[in-house]
Amino acid sequence: MTDRAAGPGRLLVRDLAQLATPSGSGAPLRSPALGEVDVLEDAYLLAEDGLIVEVGRMADLGSVDGEVEEIDGHGMSAIPGLVDCHTHACFAGDRVAEFTLRAGGASYEDLHSAGSGILATVGATRAAGEAGLTEAVRRHRGWMLRSGTTTFEAKSGYGLDRETELASLRAIEQEGGIPTWLGAHAVPPEFDDAGAYLDFAIEDVLPEAARLAEAADVFLERGAFGAGQARRYLEACRDAGLKLRLHGDQFTESGAVPLAIEIGARSVDHLEATGDDGIRALAASDVVGVLLPASALFLARPMPPARALVDAGAAVALATDFNPGSAFCESLPLVCSLACTQLRLTPSEALSACTINAASVLGRADRKGRLAPGYEADIVLLDASDWRYLAYHLGGSVVAAVVQGGRVTWRR
Ligand code: NIG
Ligand code: FE
Repeated sequence: MTDRAAGPGRLLVRDLAQLATPSGSGAPLRSPALGEVDVLEDAYLLAEDGLIVEVGRMADLGSVDGEVEEIDGHGMSAIPGLVDCHTHACFAGDRVAEFTLRAGGASYEDLHSAGSGILATVGATRAAGEAGLTEAVRRHRGWMLRSGTTTFEAKSGYGLDRETELASLRAIEQEGGIPTWLGAHAVPPEFDDAGAYLDFAIEDVLPEAARLAEAADVFLERGAFGAGQARRYLEACRDAGLKLRLHGDQFTESGAVPLAIEIGARSVDHLEATGDDGIRALAASDVVGVLLPASALFLARPMPPARALVDAGAAVALATDFNPGSAFCESLPLVCSLACTQLRLTPSEALSACTINAASVLGRADRKGRLAPGYEADIVLLDASDWRYLAYHLGGSVVAAVVQGGRVTWRR
């Protein structure tokens, strides 16, 4: 190895007990590649100008001259920065009263149809103003960072009027998130029916939302939007240049998987109620199934058929679904624990699902989600000499430090 010239913005993470990264170069990964993780023992990583330039074993590290920030990785392991490809981080207020009612036996769907649930958060979000929403995303993003999330998607969907939807998308962008327009999340109280609301959303909000967001999303579910309405909304969003996502099969199997495939969506998310035909269809498609076990846990609902999806060859990702009602959880390490204990995935499959495959859902798998030369230097240092503590330490604070674009942005 040659010596390197001095230069600004260099970072050397040295003496790592382990460095673990999804193998290969493609994405999204499917079984068996989903479970292939390269683990280097006694490793280092060198970054320059925000990009990874080398990873290797300490024995092969040449002299690094000039200005370089060093991190001592003794006793720690490094994994790629975690990518949360499904959050609802732009909301005001909370739903702790509803949580307490649910703890006493009320069901999430009943609360939703009684006008609390999502619509309660819509009221608080409309009242917050753009500055309040930006502050809320900043706070939530800080929580995510401390759990190792270096890239996050966040949806609007708690405004459901023009001003608040657009303010939400701007707030997400302002705080470094990747904005998704969830214009079809619920029917707001000022509209009599879903069709009339969608007319408004498509005519009055979509033209500007398409400039601010990367993707559009819809809640296809009994009590929210039906398959025909979801198709109309998604086709209009596609024609306006947005990538497509769907919330589907959360409570009932309502045609989300065939629609996602037909319309060329990037992902269909939730899938707790997906049956065998949906599993087979998804496996034969390019659509990524995004699994949200924290949401199933928080609502005490059945887990998605993750093992069957992976074994059938479907591309899957893991995400938190962070939101105030169905998953007040920003921790991807906890989601990895749930993936291993409840979804029957291996730690390696879980790691790939919330790094490279999640980056693929966000159209960024060429630069995020691996620790390899050419990828962005987004790194999580785990306070463990075995990287599998990521999933093993249930609810533990396993993240010791976070690096984004070659800079340390959080340290315990
Ligand atoms: O993904 N299911 C629809 N939307 C969110 C929950 C939103 C809420 O309860 O505030 C979800 O679970
Ligand atoms: Fe969601």
